[in-house]
Amino acid sequence: MDYLEIKGQEPLGGSIAISGAKNAALPILACALLGGAHTSITNLPAVADVRAMTTLLEHLGVQIIWEDSHTLTLDASHILHLEAPYDIVRKMRASILVLGPLLARFGKCKVSLPGGCAIGARPVDLHLKALEKMGAQIHIEQGYIVAKAKRGLKGCDVVFDKISVTGTENIVMAAALAKGESKIINAAKEPEVVQLCEFLQSAGVEISGIGSSEICIQGTQQENLNFKPIEIIPDRIECGTYLCVAAITNSKMRFAHANVHHLEAVLGKLSEIGFKLDIQELAPNQHTIDISPASTRAPFEIITTEYPGFPTDLQAQFMALATQCAGGSLIEERLFENRFMHVSELQRMGAQISLKGALARIKGGGMLMGADVMATDLRASSALVLAGLVAKGKTRIHRIYHLDRGYENLESKMSALGAKIKRLKS
Ligand code: UD1
Repeated sequence: MDYLEIKGQEPLGGSIAISGAKNAALPILACALLGGAHTSITNLPAVADVRAMTTLLEHLGVQIIWEDSHTLTLDASHILHLEAPYDIVRKMRASILVLGPLLARFGKCKVSLPGGCAIGARPVDLHLKALEKMGAQIHIEQGYIVAKAKRGLKGCDVVFDKISVTGTENIVMAAALAKGESKIINAAKEPEVVQLCEFLQSAGVEISGIGSSEICIQGTQQENLNFKPIEIIPDRIECGTYLCVAAITNSKMRFAHANVHHLEAVLGKLSEIGFKLDIQELAPNQHTIDISPASTRAPFEIITTEYPGFPTDLQAQFMALATQCAGGSLIEERLFENRFMHVSELQRMGAQISLKGALARIKGGGMLMGADVMATDLRASSALVLAGLVAKGKTRIHRIYHLDRGYENLESKMSALGAKIKRLKS
């Protein structure tokens, strides 16, 4: 199995470009199931989750032509199967995103239940409850969600008890082909949800309230939507992770192809810690970020919440950063009940972290030591890479398939920034 070896305490600096957002690419690929013959998508990140989604679409019968590793055209006019099998879904929970589109377009489908994962139970009850409200009959059969809506889905008001990103995305897609108007109340406001709504608008679907907690969709009752070409937005989590690379090593770096509007909470926290950030706008929504070293790195407090709050997907990386700040930091995880798996691995490297329920206290300023550590989920793994960059000696990170799910060319981007990082086989 592949592992990463990092030689710590090397001087870092330089510039890299941010890739397209995995979490925007996945719903847009699934949404192509509602569409016709020529859906063109650019700026896709070359990561394992995107490959898993295209494999799933091909399994369903979508024809995909790759122009290069970031660009493809899909033809979803002839769908052959209506089942998302366990073997694909178990590799990527976001496969649940095909449920809404398949059910809305074909009136039936079968999608394997994603099951639990390292960061918590992560149920899909909100997705199912909302689809039932839209007229679907749903039951669970041998680990599969079996959904039917013989006479099609009908628009209605859906009130989410909790804010769910993929839940909102599934219902937005289902509502686009439903009969009549749907309103999603307590909807997710993430930029990835916004881009999905804009993609549907490009195919003529009327949607209002985009980016707010109340989204209103006029169902088209159309069989096929024809989408305009779309360029995936920059990955705010990848960008945040590389900003942490600069921050933890206290180096000067430049990140191109970013969108600072999606990073307000993160950039705000970095300047509070003491980093100087210079932003250049190259075009609307396209920025270059320069980060410069801090004279002292102040401790900080973070509470993860839904967008526009501080993202849970950057909690682990900021925890690694907190180990290098001067004093005690506090991090509270509000979204997932078990998203502190990186803590024990960071502790093995010498980090002083104490946990009480959803609250982590990090005592900064201590030296980290290289060690063999285990990646547990995608973002936890990147926290271990960050710790490895400042640790004394060598850190070996095992189970890096987690990292490959969401970070494009991690080693080459890290190497371009001066890191001594190698992918090896055990
Ligand atoms: C998405 C992101 C993930 C991010 C998360 C929170 C994608 C592909 N993944 O995941 O990177 O960490 O948002 O920003 O976009 N919940 C329920 N029932 C449901 C659905 C969710 O109880 O039916 C709970 C979850 O367990 C969690 C909370 O709601 O505690 C938020 O989860 P949700 O927003 O649904 O996360 P994902 O969409 O799976």
